[in-house]
Amino acid sequence: MTRIGCIGCGNMGGAILAGLADRFDGTHAFCGCDRAPERMRPLEEKGVVAMANALDVAKDASLIVLAVKPYQAVGVLKEIRPALAPDKVLVSVVAGMSRETLCEASGGKCPVVRCMPNTPALVGEGVFALCFDDASLSSGIKSELLAVFGSLGLCLTLPESQFIAFSALIGAGPAYVFEMMQGLVQAGVTLGFTHQQSRQMIAALFAGSARMAKQIAAPLMQLRDDVCSPGGLTIAGVNHLDRAGLIGILVDAVLASEARGREMEQ
Ligand SMILES: NC(=O)c1ccc[n+]([C@@H]2O[C@H](COP(=O)([O-])OP(=O)(O)OC[C@H]3O[C@@H](n4cnc5c(N)ncnc54)[C@H](OP(=O)(O)O)[C@@H]3O)[C@@H](O)[C@H]2O)c1
Repeated sequence: MTRIGCIGCGNMGGAILAGLADRFDGTHAFCGCDRAPERMRPLEEKGVVAMANALDVAKDASLIVLAVKPYQAVGVLKEIRPALAPDKVLVSVVAGMSRETLCEASGGKCPVVRCMPNTPALVGEGVFALCFDDASLSSGIKSELLAVFGSLGLCLTLPESQFIAFSALIGAGPAYVFEMMQGLVQAGVTLGFTHQQSRQMIAALFAGSARMAKQIAAPLMQLRDDVCSPGGLTIAGVNHLDRAGLIGILVDAVLASEARGREMEQ
């Protein structure tokens, strides 16, 4: 039985562990630790064993998820080093921490996988990038990791060289989407809907449109044009968006984010 352990069960670690405990109940064993015991309680109700510290998690688990803040990560890796071994695998969700730094801090004692989730992982609908650049990873481990993280959303394998691009597009993506949603919620309120009605309708609008984009193979522009009756009200709104250059603005936003990501990694 695979034993999955998570060090740091805050927002992201807690959501990953809770999601996995729900999905792999009975087939995998789970443990975790957090400095705040109250963060472990809801996980314990799902059968996760609360460990006293990071070293105990690393001793117990074969798949160790590192989900502490970036400034805490190196210290934790040094602490768990004695428990690491080639038959274990370390999966780090720590943003912006390179595989080289992770390997160095963990003493090169086990294979290291970088994983980048986005915030919808908190509700079980994330997009995850997994970096399998470590040559010591077996194909069995890779398949297992794809199955584990794939159960929490869409899971892609990417080389580390594409992690900044992924972060700018998908890691940052929820911020772009929430900003667009906010604009439409405000429009709804301006037109006389309550905040609550407007927010509920806009959330359903995005969820339904996203499902169409996923299920119908037609180009997005065709899906857009299908809504625009000749001389109708939708084309009047779409013309306004086109004059404002919304698509160019979105492309530039992602490129600015990617440029900042490169700057930060230097
Ligand atoms: N949240 C996101 O949307 C998101 C998205 C992508 C990547 N990430 C990455 O995920 C990581 C965690 O982020 P988060 O938002 O989940 O942070 P968080 O809510 O602060 O969770 C981290 C938890 O780890 C605990 N911790 C720190 N050192 C520990 C140790 N030695 N032993 C046990 N527990 C320890 C922290 O306790 P204290 O508070 O007492 O320090 C905290 O409860 C970060 O590296 C971040 O870059 C997060």
